[in-house]
Amino acid sequence: MLVLAIETSCDETAASVVLDGTGVLSSVVVSQIDAHKKYGGVVPELASRKHVEAISIVIEEALVRADLDPRKIEGIGVTRGPGLIGSLLVGIAAAKGMALALNRPICGVNHLHGHLFAAHLERDDIRFPFVGLVVSGGHTNLYHVKGPLDIELIGKTRDDAAGEAFDKVAKLLGLGYPGGVAIEQWAKGIDPASLSFRFPRALAEGNDLDFSFSGMKTAVLRHVQERFELSRNKTKPGSFHPLIEPGATDVTDHAIGSIAAAFQDAVTEVLAIKAFRAARRWGVNQLLVCGGVAANSALRTRVTAMSDELGIEAIFPSLALCTDNAAMIAARADMLLTSGITDNVGFGAKSRW
Ligand code: KG4
Ligand code: ZN
Repeated sequence: MLVLAIETSCDETAASVVLDGTGVLSSVVVSQIDAHKKYGGVVPELASRKHVEAISIVIEEALVRADLDPRKIEGIGVTRGPGLIGSLLVGIAAAKGMALALNRPICGVNHLHGHLFAAHLERDDIRFPFVGLVVSGGHTNLYHVKGPLDIELIGKTRDDAAGEAFDKVAKLLGLGYPGGVAIEQWAKGIDPASLSFRFPRALAEGNDLDFSFSGMKTAVLRHVQERFELSRNKTKPGSFHPLIEPGATDVTDHAIGSIAAAFQDAVTEVLAIKAFRAARRWGVNQLLVCGGVAANSALRTRVTAMSDELGIEAIFPSLALCTDNAAMIAARADMLLTSGITDNVGFGAKSRW
């Protein structure tokens, strides 16, 4: 089936054309990062407006790059949620317009299920059942995926998502937005085992499959407050606004890098432990790790090492398919549409799902 999919759940406007769930004919992603950077995070109202500006151009570009007459499209997929409601609605409205104009079936896709099936675009050897870890800016979810229509949530974060923790700690360290990539870069070349401190690994012991990252973030805050005489943010004391400001003389690059490395070490260890705990508990041979944080090289290295040790294959999408894109939404939409699952055009956005 030839599917056109649209993704606008957060700060990327994306459209993609995919043939039979695996053949990516085009995948266009326009990021709004520069627009949000100066605010230190995604501003929902600004995100919606940017999607409105970009959506038609992005869809058109996806069709041009696929060298496709829109009348050839056989089905439409669109991210229905979870995400920012105003942003989701822009993509949904465009998708419904296309579906009505072309008289084609449409289905709303769960963004997190899109992440779960991103690797299917690149590999044909993924078998059910598998365990999937979705680590993104808004979610840290573990799934037992028994079949395309049988996806069970088996663990989730009780507070912050892993990506959110990366973003908040980066902000606290004054490393800017988005935080995950910045933390990874600052941590590069620093061996966490060589440091005199480490951050707590919440819920790592026992049998738990849930996550908690807010304590880790607070531990970083305390560590920074105790160790350094810093120019504190006066307007919002205690908030996660940069404690370390440019020019603070007692903070070296190495000190910042060390905190980034210790934090990254704690997050990636907990993620890997839980993911393999789930894979072993459910007796699966394959573990899929996906979502924006799956782009993190420390996580990829750690999971790959554990995979060799435990004999459970670890699968990551390529970097471009880890972060938000519409090709993964098309892959998921293909599964739903070919199973006969469609939505009538009255469906709405779901900020939570
Ligand atoms: O999946 P995604 O693109 O959007 C959501 O659905 O949320 O994930 C974005 C999240 C952000 O929190 C970002 O900081 C994080 O993924 N991220 C990373 C890396 N690249 C993106 N976190 C750690 N290391 C990275 N290299
Ligand atoms: Zn995402």
